Amino acid sequence: MRPRVIAIDGPAASGKSSTAALVAHRLGWAHLDSGALYRAVTLAVLDNLGEPGALKESLAVPGSGATWPVQQIVALAEELPVRLVLVRDVFRPEVAGVDVEEPIRSDRVTRRVSEIAAIREVRHWVNVQQREAVLGHPRGVVVDGRDIGTVVFPDAPVKVFLTASPAERARRRLAQRGGRIDPDQLRREAETLAARDHADATRPVAPMKPAADALLLDTTQIDLEEQVRQVLALAREKLPG
Ligand code: DC
Repeated sequence: MRPRVIAIDGPAASGKSSTAALVAHRLGWAHLDSGALYRAVTLAVLDNLGEPGALKESLAVPGSGATWPVQQIVALAEELPVRLVLVRDVFRPEVAGVDVEEPIRSDRVTRRVSEIAAIREVRHWVNVQQREAVLGHPRGVVVDGRDIGTVVFPDAPVKVFLTASPAERARRRLAQRGGRIDPDQLRREAETLAARDHADATRPVAPMKPAADALLLDTTQIDLEEQVRQVLALAREKLPG
């Protein structure tokens, strides 16, 4: 049986999570932000294992140039544990029983998360958590990330890949944080996003890319409501009953 999943992939700040949350809400489904799980693992590593390089026995992570104690990362995630908890139809990340939705958005985590997400063993662990979450949900789950339609749920009946120009994504990210936006800030933010996208799209394991059967949606010129409308229209067409 095909999983009751709507897969929404795309680069950083393309509007995936906002779109996924609204689509889930309108359908009465749950929302799972897979990036939050990678961020929660990163937070757990930084808080418990320290910065890479500080540990003598650490192993090199292929493709990342960094060093992390790979086996310890998954063991740590299991032991603490890092997990997803369903609260009013939103899967929220927890570390050792504490909700970490806020600290996982810090710059400290954002700077290191692509390295953690490049580790094959971590991806396998995260994918198991996602599949269990979906299996345990009675209705359906809108899952957003980078590899949802390609690797985690290749049989998802509805797949969307959202994009937007780097400048527009940088503008949205800064607008979310509030305050005035100057051109220098905008340029720096666009560079940071581009570096993360490059790391996510060129890693050897599950690189970010659109699934062959995904709807490609460029949101540079359209607003959130229109994005949601288009995803819901596709869902009505593809979902049984
Ligand atoms: O969506 P986000 O920016 O919160 O994701 C954080 C990082 O996690 C991102 O740099 C890439 C990684 N990620 C991933 O590799 N695969 C996913 N399915 C989701 C996120």
